[in-house]
Amino acid sequence: MVDRARSVYRSRVPTPPPTTTRWAHVADAAAYARCAAASFREAYADGSDDANLEVHVARHFSEAIQRSELQDPRLRLLVAEDPAGSWAGFALLRGGSRAEGVRGARPVEIVRFYTRAAWYGRGVGAQLMDGALAAAREAGHDEAWLQVWEGNARAIRFYEKSGFVARGRNPFRFGDVWEKDLVYARSP
Ligand SMILES: CC(C)(COP(=O)(O)OP(=O)(O)OC[C@H]1O[C@@H](n2cnc3c(N)ncnc32)[C@H](O)[C@@H]1OP(=O)(O)O)[C@@H](O)C(=O)NCCC(=O)NCCS
Repeated sequence: MVDRARSVYRSRVPTPPPTTTRWAHVADAAAYARCAAASFREAYADGSDDANLEVHVARHFSEAIQRSELQDPRLRLLVAEDPAGSWAGFALLRGGSRAEGVRGARPVEIVRFYTRAAWYGRGVGAQLMDGALAAAREAGHDEAWLQVWEGNARAIRFYEKSGFVARGRNPFRFGDVWEKDLVYARSP
């Protein structure tokens, strides 16, 4: 249950989106792979080397890869769906991982956090963040953290408005290129 007083969503979203969230399961592997690849391309197609982007997509997104993620007991996937059941976005959580600046005794990482471009600015991100933080609290995690590319101004603004603060840096391999990511964290 989302704590209303702490809610990112209720404090920021004037009109809630018509989406609802649920936890994904193995049968969602194909839909997850499609949404992950599409939202990644939408996020990084402008200003990126297209060939390198496709190297990354091929390496990380396929039905088999996403099925193995959904079978991994350390991972949980929260999905936002529209009323027709189409995926609007998702948040992938992983307990126990760490990076520079993560201080909690029981941290949880928000490994991937994406909405489809058609849903940008409509409150799906806030809805997913609320659900992810509520789940982290309920599972007894004392810190939520994520990493974001230093050039991703929209996401950085979203995370800062969602109460995350910069704590450190962690490299991220985008296709065949190593990029600098910022580590952000907050108490859930
Ligand atoms: C970053 C991201 C997840 C944010 O998700 P989002 O669904 O666009 O976020 P929200 O709609 O909840 O919030 C974005 C803005 O829309 C506003 N908004 C939300 N619902 C609204 C509504 N109904 N009416 C008007 N404004 C609204 C929010 O207040 C917020 O505005 P602000 O930035 O000025 O505070 C999304 O843009 C995204 O997937 N980007 C590409 C992928 C990416 O970069 N992921 C992060 C990788 S680390």
